[in-house]
Amino acid sequence: MSYYVTTPIYYVNDAPHIGHGYTTVIGDILTRWHRQRGEDVWYLTGTDEHGLKVLRKAEQNGVTPQEWTDRLVETEWKPLLETLDIANDDFIRTSEARHEAGSQAFWQDLYDRGEVYKGEFTGWYSVGSEEFVAEDDVVDGEGDDEGHKVSALDGSRVEHLTEENYFFPLSAYADRLLELYESNPDFIQPESARNEVVSFVRRGLKDLSISRSTFDWGIKVPWDHSHVMYVWIEALLNYVTAAGYGVDDERFGELWPADVHLVGKDIARFHAVIWPAMLMAAGRPVPHRVFAHGWLLVGGQKMSKSKANGIRPDELVDVFGSDAYRYYFARALTFGADGSISWEDMRARYHAELANGFGNLASRVAAMIGKYFDGALPAAGPQGPAEEAVVALVEESVLEADRAIDRIAPQDALAQVWRIVEALNGYLTEQAPWQVAKTAAAGGDAGPGAAEAAQGRLATILVTAAEGLRVLAVLLNPVMPKASASLWESLGAEPALGALADQRISAAAAWGRLPEGSVITKVPSLFPRIEDAE
Ligand code: MSP
Repeated sequence: MSYYVTTPIYYVNDAPHIGHGYTTVIGDILTRWHRQRGEDVWYLTGTDEHGLKVLRKAEQNGVTPQEWTDRLVETEWKPLLETLDIANDDFIRTSEARHEAGSQAFWQDLYDRGEVYKGEFTGWYSVGSEEFVAEDDVVDGEGDDEGHKVSALDGSRVEHLTEENYFFPLSAYADRLLELYESNPDFIQPESARNEVVSFVRRGLKDLSISRSTFDWGIKVPWDHSHVMYVWIEALLNYVTAAGYGVDDERFGELWPADVHLVGKDIARFHAVIWPAMLMAAGRPVPHRVFAHGWLLVGGQKMSKSKANGIRPDELVDVFGSDAYRYYFARALTFGADGSISWEDMRARYHAELANGFGNLASRVAAMIGKYFDGALPAAGPQGPAEEAVVALVEESVLEADRAIDRIAPQDALAQVWRIVEALNGYLTEQAPWQVAKTAAAGGDAGPGAAEAAQGRLATILVTAAEGLRVLAVLLNPVMPKASASLWESLGAEPALGALADQRISAAAAWGRLPEGSVITKVPSLFPRIEDAE
């Protein structure tokens, strides 16, 4: 049994922007966290390469679609995973042989079960969103689209088609889908997406055209090579073909059904309506959960390539680094709701929360252990009320953060982790170890036994702070793997973070894991200040 998580597979008509990076980063944080619980995890991402949108883009660039997608995948989409420090287990391209074989097997199965029929399609199609658009949703374009029909759903231009196509009897699945949403309220989340999907299905479903015969950049329908599969119907299958469907039954049995499909809200319907219906038709289990996130808004507007407000992830990573990038998108937005992002906000949070809040804490503690104990972790004395309060808060925050991850609320998990950062900073301010150190250094002048007592107290304070940092290194590892590894190393903690049961999330709060005598070294500046002109 694995914890199997997917991102949408991305269209390779263009280079990635931070909207794409968003889903991939959140999926990576979730899966790294689950790995650190000691679970078996499978994290899948990939690229959606067929269909008219990609084909036309390739034609505009004077290359074949295969050349185009090869180029974009190698120069843009795979490097994005490096840029964002993504630890995916698999990357599927829909132009791969395994996807073709699995998709054809799935289609043949549907056909053999009588779940596909031939008919005539006449209606509107949006190439921009690769989607059939109902007559009621087609309106006259304005501005640049003057004289064209556009989709009221997303403003993309539509084209009129009349074609003989294969159909999937989606209308027959409305009741079973409603039953699914009813009996499994978590199937589609958050609530807003669930409500939208339920009311969409309640209005009644139309059968779906699932093949195209006027171009051939796609996977051939196995029993009729004059048709290729409609790109969405083929793309959704990536979640099963990557798991071995039709090729490796044993692996498929282990991985499927997926635990979570992470998607943007624009594609929630495909995942929560069409996809489960296809699986039901094929007699396969449906995924456990589809989680739809909101829009990244830039200057109040949905960010997209066509509006020229599309920001490339590497523009931000070059300045802030991948850790801060991952932190920002997970912390500053509520996963599931629309949210605004800006350079100013990212910069402000970087300095306040990462550089001053967390980074400074780590370097202060290491520096004091260096100065007062020659860099060797002393033995802690008995805990007083202040230490007990820190320990209790850490226990509670670890538990709450873990629960937040189960709800797919990374922003809440990080808020819990930051309670620890703040508690430790507050603890140091109140305990003022630099003052205690003065008493310790005063020797006999401080009064009989006072210097020894102060030395013991100093040790307790710094060990408490170092233990707190250890907890932070564990909890932040899924979010900021580079900074956490540096911190872990500076705490002299062995072996590498994430490798041992001690570094599991569940063990994070267990106090006293750093052995006496651990060599604490200076922490390299985890989040150097950013001096920029903007
Ligand atoms: N190829 C399809 C998905 C097929 S999955 C079987 C597709 N690709 S996409 O590249 O256009 O979009 C991928 C994801 O990026 C979607 O989940 C979409 O919601 C997300 N985003 C695109 N722009 C976005 C924002 N401005 N903000 C947040 N996410 C956005 O759709």
